[in-house]
Amino acid sequence: MGSENTTLPAADSSAGPLSRAPEFAIIPEPVSLLKTSGHFTLPDNVVILATPEMKLVVDYLKEKLSVPTGKFVAEYNNTSAPASIRLMLNSKANAVLGNEGYQISITPTLIVIKANKTAGLFYGVQSLLQLFPKEIESKELIKDINWTVPCVEVTDYPRLAWRGLMFDVARHFFTKKDVKQYIDAMVRYKYNLLHLHLTDDEGWRIEIKGLPKLTEVGAWNVKKTGEFGSFSTPGPDEPRTYGGFYTQDDIRELIQYAKDRFVDIMPEIDVPGHSLAAVASYPDLSCTPAAINYRVRSGEKIMDWSHGAPPIALLDNTLCPANERVYSFLDTVITQVAALFPFEYIHMGGDEAPENFWQKSDAIKALMQREGLKDMRQVQGYFEKRVQKIVESKGKKFMGWDEIMNSDIPASAGIMSWRSSQFGIEASHLKHEVIMTPQTNVYLDLMQGDVITEPKVYNTVRLPKTYEFDPVPAGADPKYIIGGQGNLWTEQIYNIRQAEYMTWPRGYAVAESVWSPKEKKNWTNFIGKMEEHFKRMDIAETKYAPSIYDPIFKASRSADRQVMVELITDIDGLDIYYSFDNSFPDRFYPKYTEKVTVPKDASLMRVITYRGNKPIGRMITISVDELNKRAGKR
Ligand code: ACM
Repeated sequence: MGSENTTLPAADSSAGPLSRAPEFAIIPEPVSLLKTSGHFTLPDNVVILATPEMKLVVDYLKEKLSVPTGKFVAEYNNTSAPASIRLMLNSKANAVLGNEGYQISITPTLIVIKANKTAGLFYGVQSLLQLFPKEIESKELIKDINWTVPCVEVTDYPRLAWRGLMFDVARHFFTKKDVKQYIDAMVRYKYNLLHLHLTDDEGWRIEIKGLPKLTEVGAWNVKKTGEFGSFSTPGPDEPRTYGGFYTQDDIRELIQYAKDRFVDIMPEIDVPGHSLAAVASYPDLSCTPAAINYRVRSGEKIMDWSHGAPPIALLDNTLCPANERVYSFLDTVITQVAALFPFEYIHMGGDEAPENFWQKSDAIKALMQREGLKDMRQVQGYFEKRVQKIVESKGKKFMGWDEIMNSDIPASAGIMSWRSSQFGIEASHLKHEVIMTPQTNVYLDLMQGDVITEPKVYNTVRLPKTYEFDPVPAGADPKYIIGGQGNLWTEQIYNIRQAEYMTWPRGYAVAESVWSPKEKKNWTNFIGKMEEHFKRMDIAETKYAPSIYDPIFKASRSADRQVMVELITDIDGLDIYYSFDNSFPDRFYPKYTEKVTVPKDASLMRVITYRGNKPIGRMITISVDELNKRAGKR
């Protein structure tokens, strides 16, 4: 995929060599923004005029405005008060704005935000904050800033109602504080859905009453450090103390925290594959209960992917579709999950379920005969339909990864299209509600830059590819595409800082793809805005990846078999300087202009990118051995 990423969306060569800060840097791009004349300056006493039903929005705005500015911010409900900022709910709904749209009108004396619903006011506040100087993101008082915003008229509303990020808290556990921090960052970009991937081979993260082993056993593995997926198999004496889980009170707290920021949380319980934590807790849920001493995975190899999908399981990580106990287990789990999470959908996984242990199971053979199932796909289909019935019996809608379409799943099942958009396109014609989350564009766990510069993952999705994401692709029935989201799997993500690094700036690109009108997307404008948001994130102390400034290294061989290096960057206006003499290049070193030949005896190449006279990329070192490998046969 790395090389595919070198074909970029049409770059705007008129942008010139140096980045110019855009006049407005709102992400996602609003539907319409009109500049009028003048500025509004925040007075020393800021008066927000609002009504009690807007309390969540007012409290949020009060904190955002008072902490960095030191201004006294008060709230009045009395319409005759001299307001600085007025929040208004339309008495008669403005049909264009829908449930989440808003209008902002800024004049030199007053800021007005109007919406049909409080969610719209909240998104209006997000845009307003992005009109203030970047220091508005500070968590402490900043002096000597002129707290002004330009006068504008904004009308804005989302393209899609479901604008999500998936956070995998199973592969590595993330604390409640981490999840809240993640929510805080996502709401700035008008995301409204957090999909929590709560269970997997590496951990079961939600307390289920009556099934204590799920969290006594299933939430813990052995802490390993390095490259996940190739760890040594833990010995019996290694302590299983790494992990954690959310109590049901923790879950309620997270749901409320999200709700107060207009975010719904969708839970995912991933079955029948990806279920080793459940099976390690209750081995009789598998088709092979006595065969193996099951253990929650600690990053050792448990799947063989060399034959493609479905993978060959080296250890049975599946629930057994032929076992009635599995359905009573799932009934217990789903009953409690349905009671905890107010969101309409429960996601039940369904991806990448290995078949090899089922194929050998007498119970599965008997099930196939009894139910007339022809193959393992139909066995999984039988399972999915039963799980769908359980979910629906609790008053919830059932969702799964696109593999659940492998058999005739009823149209009431929501489909999360991940293997490619094609599955979502097909599902839309079968009248399933579809969430688009194609791995080709929005898998936020994949590397953002050259493999030598990032924690290693099996593939790469550079920012331009994410920005190309169209959640409603040609060929789909748009009526059934209800949303899009980015997915952050966390096999290689050990902490919240790295979770942020992987999410941003690609999370900006996903946000703009799911909120902004397609015709408003513009790569050059987006990159300019991204740079402003990097500065905002520096102030907010949210981590992001600067990988967009670093080149990808491509190697080839000349006619006389010498290694040639090509350096590819995704944005214009960068200069790359390099060395082969092991020293650290700066802008007084050779500048890269075309493929360079690696000197015969060199062992390292170092490069750094500059914009003008400022270093902007990271100092990157690649070994000549690696370049030789990439160049192929000598
Ligand atoms: C998935 O990425 N296995 C849904």
